Amino acid sequence: MSQTKIESILNENRLFQPSNEFITHSRIKSLAEYERLYETAKSNPEDFWATLAQQELHWFAPWDRVLDWQPPMAKWFVNGKINISYNCLDRHLTTGRRNKAALIWEGEPGDTRTFTYAQLHREVCQFANVLKQLGIQKGDRVGIYMPMIPESVIAMLACARIGAPHSVIFGGFSADALRDRLNDAQAKLVITADGGWRKDAIVPLKEQVDRALADGAVPTVTTTLVVQRTKQEIKMQPQRDHWWHHLQPTVSAQCPAEPMDSEDMLFILYTSGSTGKPKGVVHTTAGYNLYTHITTQWIFDLQDRDVYWCTADVGWITGHSYIVYGPLSNGATTLLYEGAPRASNPGCFWDVIEKHGVNIFYTAPTAIRAFIKMGDHLPKSRDLSSLRLLGSVGEPINPEAWMWYHQVIGGGRCPIVDTWWQTETGGIMVTPLPGAIPTKPGSATRPFPGIIADVVDLEGNSVPDNEGGFLAIQYPWPGMMRTVYGDPDRFRRTYWEYIPPKDGHYYYFAGDGARRDEDGYFWVMGRVDDVINVAGHRLGTMEVESALVSHPAVAEAAVVGKPDEVKGEEIVAFVTLESTHSPTEELKKILKNHVTQEIGAIARPGEIRFSEALPKTRSGKIMRRLLRSLAAGQEVSGDTSTLEDRSVLDHLRQGS
Ligand code: WT7
Repeated sequence: MSQTKIESILNENRLFQPSNEFITHSRIKSLAEYERLYETAKSNPEDFWATLAQQELHWFAPWDRVLDWQPPMAKWFVNGKINISYNCLDRHLTTGRRNKAALIWEGEPGDTRTFTYAQLHREVCQFANVLKQLGIQKGDRVGIYMPMIPESVIAMLACARIGAPHSVIFGGFSADALRDRLNDAQAKLVITADGGWRKDAIVPLKEQVDRALADGAVPTVTTTLVVQRTKQEIKMQPQRDHWWHHLQPTVSAQCPAEPMDSEDMLFILYTSGSTGKPKGVVHTTAGYNLYTHITTQWIFDLQDRDVYWCTADVGWITGHSYIVYGPLSNGATTLLYEGAPRASNPGCFWDVIEKHGVNIFYTAPTAIRAFIKMGDHLPKSRDLSSLRLLGSVGEPINPEAWMWYHQVIGGGRCPIVDTWWQTETGGIMVTPLPGAIPTKPGSATRPFPGIIADVVDLEGNSVPDNEGGFLAIQYPWPGMMRTVYGDPDRFRRTYWEYIPPKDGHYYYFAGDGARRDEDGYFWVMGRVDDVINVAGHRLGTMEVESALVSHPAVAEAAVVGKPDEVKGEEIVAFVTLESTHSPTEELKKILKNHVTQEIGAIARPGEIRFSEALPKTRSGKIMRRLLRSLAAGQEVSGDTSTLEDRSVLDHLRQGS
C-alpha cells in the first residue's frame, strides 16, 4: 500500500451516526446494546451460539455438545442433525413466505425470472432427484462451473439437500484451473452451462469443461449436467453429458432433505494462499448455517419486505454466504444479477436498483471506484430512493470512495457496513451493526459479537492502540473453516500456528495487517503475505509465477502487486528469459495470454517487465519488497544491504 493511502486512512476521524429512522426498526439499536451483546458472547460463547442456534434454525435432532475444541480442530453442535437446504426453503413454506419472492434473477440480455419460495423449493427438490438418478450420493463431491443464473443457486441447494458437498469454481477460471480444482476435490459430476454471458460476450463454459476433462485428465468425473443458457452449438458426449432441461421434468418434485450431521461437509471452495496451489477451504453444515444466518440478519438488518442485492459472483465465498445461504436461511428476497457494468451499459447497476426497488445493496470497493470514474450523472439520473443500507466487501475501502458511496448512492441517509472477512471465516467478522455502531470512512469498525479479534505481533502479544500489527482471532466461531481439503497439516500451519500458540491459546492468523484505534475500531490495511488483491479477487503471487515459468521462454518470474486507482492492486511480473528468447512487446503479450490460459483473465498481469536478473538475497530469496517499490515507481528505500548483486537493482531501475 502506498504511503499516501496509509496516511489518508490514519487521518480519518469523521464519525457517521445512523439516522433515527434507521435505528427505529434495526435489531441492535445502540452502541451500549452492541457492547452488552459483545460482552455476553465473550463471557460465554457457547451459550451465546447455542441460544441462537436453538432460536433461529430448524434441527432434525438436537446436538449434545455445543463445541468440541481441540485446537485447531473445532466441532460445533456435536451430533446435531440439520439440513441447510431445509433451513433455506422448507421451513419458509409454512410461515407465510410460501409465495414470497425468494430469488429475483436479472439476466442478460434483458431476461428476468422470479422464484417464490414454493417454486424454488420445487426446483431444488427436482434437481436433487436428478442428481440422485445420476448416481450422486451423500458425500460425493459435485463441481459447479456456471454463470450467474438461477440454476447455480438451485444446484447448490440441491447438493446441500442430499448431502453432496459442492465445489463451485468461478466461471472466469480457465480449463486448466478447473481441472486442478476438480481433481483436488475428486468430483464425481460437474454442472455447467452451454455458455454464460460476461459483459457483452459469451463465455464457452461447456467447452472449457470438455477441455478440462479431455484425455481422462479428471478420472473421477463420469457425468456432466448442462444448462441451456446461450444456445450456441456445443458438443455433447453421449453417456457422459446430459441436458438439465431434459432430465429435470422427468423426476419427482418430492425429495425430503437429508438429515445431515452438524459437521458433515457442506462445500469446498478454493482460494489462493501465499504458497503452493490453491487451498480447498472446507466448510461444514450447522456452524456455517448459523453463522451466515445470524450475520446476514444483524449486519444487513433484514426486514421481511426487503429486496436484498449482493453483486458478488456465486463462485466466491461472498456469493455462497451472502447471495445464497444467509439470505435464504432468513427467508429474504435475494437478487441475482448476471450482468456487469461495462462501456455499453455503465448505468446497469443503478437500473437494477431502480427496477427492483432494491433496499440493501452490497458491493466491492473496486466497483465503487470504477463508478466514480464513470460519473455521477449515471446514478443521479436513476431513482435510488429505495436504498436504505449499503455494504462494502473484498478489500479496504478508501475514505474518498466511502464518502462517494455514502453521498451519491446512499443519498447521505444509508449507513455503510464495511465488512471484513475471508473465504476461510465463512462469514463477516469485523463490521458495523448498522443501527448501533457509528461508522468511520475506511474502518470495518468492531468485531461481530462472539468474535474475539485482536491486533497482535508475531508472538501473539496485543500491540498498543494505533500501532500496526496482524489481525488475529482468538477463539473458534461456528462459521470458521474446518480444514484444508486433504491437507489438515496445511490448515494447522497456515492459520493456527503461524503465531505460536501460548499456554494452550491459539490464534487464527488472517494474513492481513491492521491497526486498532482508541475507540476499538479496526482499520484493515491489506495482506501481509504474498497474496495480492486485484479488483477484489485474491491471487497468490506463486500461482501467477508458476503459470509464467510454465512457458518455455521464461527462466524465472517474480510477481508483485502495484497500487491501482480502481482495482486496488494490479499484477506486475518481473521476468527473466531463457537465453534463446529475446524481450519483445510481442512476447509480453504472449506471456499475458499464457497466464490467462493457465489461470483465467483475473490473473492476467497488467504489466510485464523483462530483466536480466532478479534482486535476490545471498541465500537466493527474491527480494519482493524491492520489486514492489520498483513496480510502484517509488525510490527503493530501506535496507538493501542483503542484496547479493547491487547492479541488478540499477538494471531494473532503468527498466525495459
Ligand atoms: C481478503 C479475503 C470474504 C470477502 C471477499 C473476499 C480482504 C475482505 C475486506 C474489508 C479490508 C478486506 C482481506 C482478506 N478483505 N474484506 N472489508 N476491508 N480488506 O474474500 O477472497 O477470501 O479474500 O480480502 O485482505 O484477507 P477472499
